[in-house]
This record gives sequence, structure tokens and C-alpha cells, in this order.
Amino acid sequence: MLLRALISKPVSRGFSVLSSLKVTEHASVKHAEKSGHAPKCENLSEAQTAFLDRVIRVDQAGELGADYIYAGQYFVLAHRYPHLKPVLKHMWDQEVHHHSTFDNLQLKRRVRPSLLTPFWKVGAFAMGAGTAFISPEAAMACTEAVETVIGGHYNGQLRNLANQFDLERTDGTKGPSEEIRSLTSTIKQFRDDELEHLDTAIKHDSYMAVPYTVITEGIKMICRVAIWSAERV
Ligand SMILES: [Fe+2]
Ligand SMILES: [Fe+2]
Repeated sequence: MLLRALISKPVSRGFSVLSSLKVTEHASVKHAEKSGHAPKCENLSEAQTAFLDRVIRVDQAGELGADYIYAGQYFVLAHRYPHLKPVLKHMWDQEVHHHSTFDNLQLKRRVRPSLLTPFWKVGAFAMGAGTAFISPEAAMACTEAVETVIGGHYNGQLRNLANQFDLERTDGTKGPSEEIRSLTSTIKQFRDDELEHLDTAIKHDSYMAVPYTVITEGIKMICRVAIWSAERV
């Protein structure tokens, strides 16, 4: 009841309170008429469209970053440690798939990419290669930290998508569009892949990295700042 009361109010707040993004169709249409801009998708309110744009922008930037992190790790470790080559290649291939999926979604929904994209590319490659230069265990500690944050990030998005688009309604008359269902299942699949990478990193002795705490906590903090920035810039 409280949620219903909250979402029935027209909302003009910032994106920090995700539960406030869901507005009534009436409010959305009025705002669209007033501003002279119709929402990108006629079935979604302006706030829902803005929320989806933000999801796709940050996830595209994040998967681009992951692609470049694994590229950096593979570049440094593949020849020095041949037993790690197939492990890194498998994870990298999955990140390339994640990256291209969000590239396609970004084009399809005409979502502006993060303006910091060149920085994400350089920073992510440097993070992957830099930790790999320290040791294979440090590279795995980097993976452990990144995938821990990304797994949590995707779980948060899945909760917010369920709240925003009434995913619990499956009676066929209400509930999310095919597009939202598809995005949700994509994020679930990618979340599972990221958690598999996390397991792989632990199996390959991430905890043996020196200095483990500095690397993992430092990279987790960097990832959280990057997510916050990519959602907004
Ligand atoms: Fe990924
Ligand atoms: Fe991953």
C-alpha cells in the first residue's frame, strides 16, 4: 500500500531514489505534452524510459570495461602462464558477448553512451594488465573484486526492474513488455556468468594475491565509483 501511495505521485526527483521513478501514465503524458517530447517508447512513461536508458548506459560501460580488463589480463598472462590461457579466454569471450549485447541494446534504444567511454577503456585495460603484471593471483583478485561488485550491481538492477515494471504480474493483461522481460533475462544470465567468473577467480587462488586486501578493496571502490559515474555521465 505504501508503494502504491508513493508511485501515484508525479515525480520530478533525481535518479538516486530508484523507487520514485515509476510515475503514473497520466503524469507522464501531461509532462510529455507540456514539454513537447513524446517518450521514446509509447508504452513506457518518461521516467521508465529514463530508467531503462540509465540501465543500458551503465551496463554497456561496465561490460566494455570488463572486456578491456580481460584483454589486459590475457595480453600479459596468456603466454607466460599457458595453463591460464583457456581460463582467461573463456571469461574474456563471455565478456565480449556481454559487451556486444549491450552495444546492440544501446543502438536499438538509441541510448547515449557514457561520455567517459575513452577513460573506461584505458582505465580498464590498465587495471587488467597492471594486476596481471603483479602476479596471476593478483589478476584473479582483480577479477574477484570486479565480479563481486558487478554481481551485486546486476542484482540491484533486477530488483529495480521488478519494482519499476511490475514483473510479478504474469496474468497477460498487465506487467512488463516483451522488451523488459528480455532485458531482465539478459541481466540474469550475465549476472550468473559474472558469478561464475568470481568462482573461477577464487579457484585460481585470488586469495593468495599480495597484498590481497589492498587490491580487492581498492578495486571494489574503483568499480563503485565507476558505476556511479557511468550512470550519470
Ligand atoms: Fe560481463
Ligand atoms: Fe565477468
